[in-house]
Amino acid sequence: MTGLLVGSANARIGLRDGIAVLAGGGSALNAVVAVIRRVEANPDDHSVGFGGLPNLLGDVELDASIMDGRTLATGAVAGLRGYQDAIDLARVVMTELPHVLIVGEGAARLASESGFQLRDLLTPEARQIWASRIENAQPTDLYTAKTRELAARLTRDPERPHDAHGTVNVIARDGAGNIASGVSTSGWAWKFPGRAGDSPIIGAGNYADQRYGAATCTGRGEMAQRCCTAHSVVTFMRFGMPLDDALRLAAEDLHRLDDPYKSEVNIVAIDREGRHAGASTVPGKTYIVMTTEMDEPLELERRYIPPAPDRLANQ
Ligand code: GLY
Repeated sequence: MTGLLVGSANARIGLRDGIAVLAGGGSALNAVVAVIRRVEANPDDHSVGFGGLPNLLGDVELDASIMDGRTLATGAVAGLRGYQDAIDLARVVMTELPHVLIVGEGAARLASESGFQLRDLLTPEARQIWASRIENAQPTDLYTAKTRELAARLTRDPERPHDAHGTVNVIARDGAGNIASGVSTSGWAWKFPGRAGDSPIIGAGNYADQRYGAATCTGRGEMAQRCCTAHSVVTFMRFGMPLDDALRLAAEDLHRLDDPYKSEVNIVAIDREGRHAGASTVPGKTYIVMTTEMDEPLELERRYIPPAPDRLANQ
């Protein structure tokens, strides 16, 4: 079977690593990790790993998850500080512990015990972006009611309205037909310390069950958490919906949310036949695809899903 990688557009930098794994007969899980590892090491991607934008206090906190669509085994970390390889650590949780999600100090402890390299994840450039938006906010403001207003202001900058929500998504299908999915992020930039988004929450930002397909999300994680978006897409396919209809229904559910911080949610997904699609609650978004038969990745438009008519009628 042809090896396949599908991901968010920022996965491009790691696609060749993943294709090399698949072309060499490696597993979908190994391919997912190979792609995301490369993105996590990229200091120019301020939404993932090293160089990711920090929380309100200036600390970089990473979230990641991985899922094996063959067995439904999964592992995740949240609020990981000081270690860049969040996706590798999520895999350690999956394979070495009788748990699914390890957070904060426990995640850092596991990284240390697993021999991961400690690293200051805050690059000078990321620090400068963080500081320029924090402006005159005093540390004492951050734990008061002002936190919410501050977060809203920072994440609604009209010049860069969506850059607070970046994340990398990768779904792989290997030569044996097995599917795996992975997600990694530094989370909502300027987030309240300890906030975990959808990326480490299985069913919200990541889900794979290869009897039906897989789905992963980027964008405002709180919305995908509330709708269990990744699981919903896979479940809709389980109940017989074609991939496009499953994505449409999941996006319409997201539009229905009442959310003062409402922002975009983007989904990439594949069905059990390896058909792929990307969808978004906003127009103009892309996703990326590469197979073991292609020389170059293909960047494709995501389908924009507007609010469903009943929602419009209710407004
Ligand atoms: N989707 C990434 C996040 O909200 O943290």
